Amino acid sequence: MVTRRNVLGAGLAAIGAGLTGAAFTPMITAHSATAGTAVPQTQAGAAGMAVEPFRVALPVPPVLAPVSTAGGVDVYAVTMRRAVKEIVPGQPAEVLTYNGSFPGPTIKARSGRPVVVRQRNQLDMPTSVHLHGASVPHRSDGAPMDTIAPGAGRTYVYPNRQPHASLWYHDHAHHMESEHVYRGLSGSYLLTDHTERRLPLPSGAYDIPIAIRDAHLDESGRLVYVMGDRNRTTLLANGVPYPYVAVAARKYRFRLLNSANTRSFRLRLADGGPIVQIGSDGGLLPGPHTTDSVYLSAGERADVVIDFSRYPVGTQLVLQNTTGSGPADQIGQVLRFDVTRTTHDPSVVPPVLRTLRPLPAATAERSIELRMDEGGTAPPKAYIDGKTYDPDRVDSLVRHGASEIWTVTNPNKIVPHNFHMHLVQFRVLERNGKEPDPGEVGLKDTVMLMPGETVRLQATFDTYRGAYVYHCHMLDHSAMGMMATMKIA
Ligand code: C2O
Ligand code: CU
Ligand code: CU
Repeated sequence: MVTRRNVLGAGLAAIGAGLTGAAFTPMITAHSATAGTAVPQTQAGAAGMAVEPFRVALPVPPVLAPVSTAGGVDVYAVTMRRAVKEIVPGQPAEVLTYNGSFPGPTIKARSGRPVVVRQRNQLDMPTSVHLHGASVPHRSDGAPMDTIAPGAGRTYVYPNRQPHASLWYHDHAHHMESEHVYRGLSGSYLLTDHTERRLPLPSGAYDIPIAIRDAHLDESGRLVYVMGDRNRTTLLANGVPYPYVAVAARKYRFRLLNSANTRSFRLRLADGGPIVQIGSDGGLLPGPHTTDSVYLSAGERADVVIDFSRYPVGTQLVLQNTTGSGPADQIGQVLRFDVTRTTHDPSVVPPVLRTLRPLPAATAERSIELRMDEGGTAPPKAYIDGKTYDPDRVDSLVRHGASEIWTVTNPNKIVPHNFHMHLVQFRVLERNGKEPDPGEVGLKDTVMLMPGETVRLQATFDTYRGAYVYHCHMLDHSAMGMMATMKIA
């Protein structure tokens, strides 16, 4: 069985306490030993396998087709099951999937039109499907303890009463979310609305979701999971390592998602060329922000436009990552854009993208501290306001209708965190007493906190009532206890 002890013990490696991952038992192996269907894998130890880059084309996950659209409701049927995929070409590897797709299929939704997803769990572990960034009734939130038993099913209802946003869905089963997401249980959920649709942004084949994550692959190309593993040094885009993306010499929109468990990325084009950020977690920014790099911590999204018309046909342009630990040839690049043809480009990035609702006057303030044992204490734990997660405890009582300012701090010296709230899209008011970064002035549901940083944010709780979690989205940390419950009543 999965015990709290092996979860916390495994977390030691997360802060580099000098232990190798090989000392720890991966959760699914431990669990499956009783269920008798272990995922084939090896122990961690050596650095991730070196994969030759730019050999395969970027796959785009299939868009899920509804099984019914009757009554203005899109109904989808999804099965969670194991599947065999070639992460590295020619090397079959077992992964956990939604409908056999790694990563999961994309769900496309419209504001004002409800989506119903009938999930069936054909895995041998409990699961819980969370729609990250969405405002949904409590019973459809995919709360950590609100799980689907192996062999059982569950119907999730997503009202989509919120503006457009690039959301994503992923597993959230208590203590198992980290490994489940790592092994494949995540997918994109692209919610659009009138505001977004009437803009002449790149669309159709020129609007591509790209989920970026890291992985530790063994010498047979299979995923190795160890909590806090420092050997997750192979980068995957839409489930494959270092793909190439054949593009026309025109503008493209990329919905970037950091679906890694813990790793952050700072993405830039190899020539330092401009990237136009048009959106973040909760949809479009008020206006485009031209930059040479985009930072994404685990769970965050960035909507960007890259104009390849400035490159001659034949150009090969690597999307680099300039942050994080690992061998430069493995973590320093993500994918390569190959400009293969010219084409007509009617798309435009308008100077005004959306108008954000003005912030209401705040009715309450509270402060939140994200902290983890560091410096060799064993076993390390991770805390919010000094407490590890207890699903039976309410940590913050929020009055329905309140608009609250939360001051979130990371007092750690070494370990970065980020802060994610379920149910709401918030606004970042300040970062370290100054203006927020230009990429975080829109609606956000996850915000980065480097060691020593403080972020002030404002969230308004005027939709659903009930208990929802907030946590560090570095999933190894949340699984170690850095999660808490707010109750909106
Ligand atoms: Cu992606 Cu509880 O979150
Ligand atoms: Cu979430
Ligand atoms: Cu953290």
